[in-house]
Amino acid sequence: MNETPRILVLGASGNTGGAVVKTLQAYGAQTSGVPSSGAPSSGMSIRTTSTKNVRSTGTDHVRFDWSAPDTYATAVAGVDRVYLIAPVGVVDPVPPVEAFLAEARRAGVRRTVFLSSSAVRTGGPGLGQVASLVQSVMPEWAVLRPTWFMQNFVGRHPLAEAIRSSREFVTATGDGRQAFVDAGDIGATAAALLVDDAAHTSEFYVTGPESISYDDAAAVLTEAIGEPIRHVAVSVEQRVRQYVDSGYPADFSASLAGLDDFIRTGQNDFVADTVNRFTGRPPRPLREFMSEHRDKLLTPG
Ligand SMILES: NC(=O)c1ccc[n+]([C@@H]2O[C@H](COP(=O)([O-])OP(=O)(O)OC[C@H]3O[C@@H](n4cnc5c(N)ncnc54)[C@H](OP(=O)(O)O)[C@@H]3O)[C@@H](O)[C@H]2O)c1
Repeated sequence: MNETPRILVLGASGNTGGAVVKTLQAYGAQTSGVPSSGAPSSGMSIRTTSTKNVRSTGTDHVRFDWSAPDTYATAVAGVDRVYLIAPVGVVDPVPPVEAFLAEARRAGVRRTVFLSSSAVRTGGPGLGQVASLVQSVMPEWAVLRPTWFMQNFVGRHPLAEAIRSSREFVTATGDGRQAFVDAGDIGATAAALLVDDAAHTSEFYVTGPESISYDDAAAVLTEAIGEPIRHVAVSVEQRVRQYVDSGYPADFSASLAGLDDFIRTGQNDFVADTVNRFTGRPPRPLREFMSEHRDKLLTPG
């Protein structure tokens, strides 16, 4: 491990960013004489951000808002490595990320670990363009391409809300399978890539340990809460109509249903060894995740 990496974690209150911080803090705690977080120069330092004002997370914490470019310079000052998640819910994430990366390079940042998606080809629209940008701007980079998060079944995701309100959820994935991944494992992998002496400049798929269908997932949820949870399979066309009927624009509805089709056609049906390779332990299976998050299946976390 590098003696003194100075790391900025964007989205630290989120699914993956939170896990990045937790893992980095554990690394710090394991290093004799090095404070577990926010250490100035004697060991690894961790800076986290949020759109609100400073929260007490045990790290150096600054305000950062993608929609306020004047917050970028403070966030990257004195930092050499960054965990990057792109702005969520914006039409084109490229302009703000481009401005941020330029600021980061000026401040001396050399390595960026960027969270993309298994469904997004580098160079493709949205996150794909951001991945290209990271690769062209940063001397050292890693692009993580995870499958769908286990966290989608709990918390505030629409899938989780459907399960809570009706004990069923709808997809157009058919029998398509994928290896759902715990965001905790993504964060742990990202942390390892941030602190490693070697840069590993490459793209990595990040998955859970087993590729399963949404019917299989429903069976795991049923077992976890002891109540039947049903996966309702519809066609891609029906799914598009459902999104439109619930108020989404036609284009966006087609993109959302397209993600289900991606799974239905087997394009997410694989298992990668990335978590094991970089964390030294296997990724968590859905059954274990669900038994730990049983309460959140029925109550928003
Ligand atoms: N869910 C999936 O199955 C899946 C699969 C593959 C890839 N992904 C990708 O994963 C990414 C989301 O990662 P995640 O789940 O770790 O995040 P998340 O839990 O959705 O959290 C989003 C983070 O963004 C921060 N944020 C919100 N608005 C912001 C703003 N204006 N400026 C700066 N920060 C802001 C939030 O922090 P504060 O509000 O506290 O500041 C929060 O920490 C997306 O790019 C998504 O495409 C998701």
